[in-house]
Amino acid sequence: MPPTTSAAQESEPLHPDTMRQAQLLAPSVSTFDPVGILAIEVYFPRKYVDQRALESFDGVTPGKYTIGLGQQAMSFCGDREDVRSMCMTVVQTLMEKYRIGYNDIGRLEVGTETIIDRAKSIKTALMSLFEQSGNFEVEGIDSTNACYAGTNALFNTIAWCESCTLFDGRFGLVVCGDIAVYPRGPARATGGAGAVALLIGRAQPQRYPQLEPILVLEPGLKSSHFENTWDFFKPARRQDTEYPIVNGTESIACYFRALDICYTRFTGRVEQQTRRTRVWLAETSGRPGAEQVTEQQSLRCTLLTSTAFAEPSVTPVADADATQLDYVVFHAPFNKLVRKSFARLVLNDYLRYPELASQHRAVSGALRAQLAKLKRLPAHLNPTGVCVPPPSTYWDRTLMQLVLECSEPLYRAKCAPSTTLARQTGNAYTASLFGNLLCLLDAERDRTLGKRVVLFGFGSGMAASMYAMRVVASPEALLRRVGLIERLGARIPTSPACFHETLRLREQNYGACDYEPSEPLEELFPGTYYLVRIDGRGIRYYDRYQGSRASDQAACCNALCPDKP
Ligand code: ACO
Repeated sequence: MPPTTSAAQESEPLHPDTMRQAQLLAPSVSTFDPVGILAIEVYFPRKYVDQRALESFDGVTPGKYTIGLGQQAMSFCGDREDVRSMCMTVVQTLMEKYRIGYNDIGRLEVGTETIIDRAKSIKTALMSLFEQSGNFEVEGIDSTNACYAGTNALFNTIAWCESCTLFDGRFGLVVCGDIAVYPRGPARATGGAGAVALLIGRAQPQRYPQLEPILVLEPGLKSSHFENTWDFFKPARRQDTEYPIVNGTESIACYFRALDICYTRFTGRVEQQTRRTRVWLAETSGRPGAEQVTEQQSLRCTLLTSTAFAEPSVTPVADADATQLDYVVFHAPFNKLVRKSFARLVLNDYLRYPELASQHRAVSGALRAQLAKLKRLPAHLNPTGVCVPPPSTYWDRTLMQLVLECSEPLYRAKCAPSTTLARQTGNAYTASLFGNLLCLLDAERDRTLGKRVVLFGFGSGMAASMYAMRVVASPEALLRRVGLIERLGARIPTSPACFHETLRLREQNYGACDYEPSEPLEELFPGTYYLVRIDGRGIRYYDRYQGSRASDQAACCNALCPDKP
């Protein structure tokens, strides 16, 4: 006879420990199912400054921020928000939208470079959201290295989900958030703020039928570059400021160097993997032999390898899917750098496969002449052992202009759809790359199905990775939950004077104890966590703004904002 239980006992929720034990002994998910991104949520502050208005206020030549940097607007926070509150907001919003129980999270990794405490992690602060559930068994902690830390958090979480020894059957959460602020000067217009949360794991159809992996990492298609550089850093002795020490030109050179190296390694790996697969298929199915397979032109992996962009003059590819790069998503400090980075990938393609330059009609005579003069750095002269374009190409305006022109149609198809959010909100450092991924899905919707997305994560100092994800399910339901474009439209414009004044106040109050913020709550989106006060010891207290009637029609209350831009 099975033991009998009373009705009261049956309806009583199980203690989290009992639940955990049951899950471990009878795992509800198979470790053979693919791990992927199941859900994405984004947060950006409600207030922004228009970049055109900022140009005029700052007295720079018109077009410097909007054309020169390619930015349209910039998000910023007042004193009610910090990196912790932004991360709390994005996590709680994701959990509510998908009705996920906090007990079902087994790992939480945070990527950030915004420091509000030199010992306590943002992750442990986020544990306050788990208190009601009684789930205190959540592994993971913060990663820090400039804008790269989000990529590290993602790799850690996927590795945990795929681990035979560490995985416990629950979901992982990756949370990235940053507030990018600079002193007055040329870097200030490249600031921004935002946070992203990614739910990672396998489908659990019985408990969560609404969740399935939408993006999965492609095995083996990843390259990385790490180097000790001093282009951007925040020394601990400078405790009185949240601004970094930044060498802008050097940071761009680091970005390009890492991009060239990662792309060369990455495309090499795509080609190698495709070749191996074909050899294996040839051997097992009696098709053409290995030698013939390796000579096939279709083994080139370039941005130009694309059924959509195949030109009549180019030999058609037999199996374009395996080497095709459908979309490229970049970490986006500012849009001009993204546009130039895309052009650099095309430059890399032409230098790797010079015959492509003569085949493609988009390549002008002037560009052909430039390319003929260029030689890649031979691998044996490069400490990384990778053959890349020479550094002189970073600053060659004529060459860049020619590559920008010839790559424009490819850029519009493969990269531009991912850039709206970053052009509107600015650099959200660790959150930038994943915000741009979401933006791509939002712009391209079901056209992304089955496509390969190449992501480039970069952090100064320096760390970078390029990796491929496949879109394996429709993102429609996810996008409806996010409502990206409507939320961007519901923001509050502020004047440049208000923006600079807000940053002046942040400077003045940085590190303050016994502090009560004064920003009106109506200037926050309903559902936003906000800072209530900081006590004498530096402990921060938060609450959640539920919204009010006034908040629907909210405008900036600052006296410096009489006329909206
Ligand atoms: N109209 C059109 N374009 C203009 C105008 C104008 N009126 N004025 C200037 N420009 C162009 C310039 O020609 C230049 O374009 P180019 O690069 O294609 O030649 C561009 O605007 C930038 O102007 P510069 O004078 O070269 O640079 P500036 O002194 O404004 O600094 C920088 C730009 C270095 C990006 C600065 O904003 C910075 O340091 N930002 C922070 C560091 C950063 O974001 N680094 C990127 C990677 S690291 C990271 O993610 C933090």
